[in-house]
Amino acid sequence: MYEPTIKSDFFVIKALEDGVSVIGLTRGNDTKFHHSEKLDKGEVMIAQFTEHTSAVKVRGRAMIQTSHGEMENS
Ligand code: TRP
Repeated sequence: MYEPTIKSDFFVIKALEDGVSVIGLTRGNDTKFHHSEKLDKGEVMIAQFTEHTSAVKVRGRAMIQTSHGEMENS
């Protein structure tokens, strides 16, 4: 049986330009957008993967920190 868990790991996204989107994708059989957060330059979002969110898409220039390392997308 599928046991949803809230992952304790946090990840950090810092917007390096205005209008960065952080898009949450659903967990389970369907992979759909369920939330889109807009960040302006300098804004930081701290988030987790949860029972509802299995993947995150970041659109725009941002610094992303995870337990796997740090990366900048452009
Ligand atoms: N309600 C969402 C959830 O509990 C909030 C959320 C958590 C979220 N992590 C996210 C939204 C990452 C976007 C991206 O899953």
